Amino acid sequence: MDSSEFQFQFIHLNSVSSTNIYAFEHLRQKSIRGATVITASFQDNGKGQAGKDWESERNKNLNISIIVSPKINVEHQFKLSQLVAISLKKWLDTLAVEGVKIKWPNDILVNGKKVAGVLIENSVLKQQITHSVIGIGVNVNQDVFEKFDRPATSLKLELKRNYDLKKALTEFIKLFQSYYVLFLKGDVNFQQDYLKHLFGYGVPQQFQDAEGKFLGVILGVLPSGKLQVNRNGKLKSYGLKELKFLD
Ligand code: BTN
Repeated sequence: MDSSEFQFQFIHLNSVSSTNIYAFEHLRQKSIRGATVITASFQDNGKGQAGKDWESERNKNLNISIIVSPKINVEHQFKLSQLVAISLKKWLDTLAVEGVKIKWPNDILVNGKKVAGVLIENSVLKQQITHSVIGIGVNVNQDVFEKFDRPATSLKLELKRNYDLKKALTEFIKLFQSYYVLFLKGDVNFQQDYLKHLFGYGVPQQFQDAEGKFLGVILGVLPSGKLQVNRNGKLKSYGLKELKFLD
């Protein structure tokens, strides 16, 4: 294995439109290599999942894009999602944050409130992921949240103290890196851990799909990343925009 693939270089920006956009611009210009971690103190066009904005107060939170070149088939892209979600979960465990769950596909919740979100964007050539830009927003020292769909929280609100942003970044990247090395070696299967920490796994809850509201139960996640839900006795699989969690 080429060790440059997991020895990250770091770029910090005071202000940027979006660290993910910055990553893709520089990849296109070939002025950045894979295995780079880009962070920003502020984003004025932060991107969330499903075309939404990602709001984050200046200097308060982690806005990270990790560029990797895992050279995997695009069919396996959900494994990267699992890798990131599990890295975030394990990092929060080390801080003794309790009640941390992964909300499919890779939001991180603390007692039902969102503390981190992930937006992975890939460039693909002949079915292979050439670069993956893993965008991660972690609410660290922000006290007030207004624009999220679901209630949000931060490390500060959970731990009742400010958390040093540099320390947070170093700790998280170290953990991510260790899991990423295992992932590249093919030494790890995240499925079991992912399901163990999945929000609502096996528990009846309210959903909405194209046919309406229903009480369903999450039974699993397919390798494609689709969520498997028992809907009135039938096993159905949903992509990201096909299912809404109502609680
Ligand atoms: C979500 O939960 O909707 C995903 C949020 C992802 C936000 C991060 S912040 C760093 C990176 N740059 C962006 O523009 N978005 C991601």
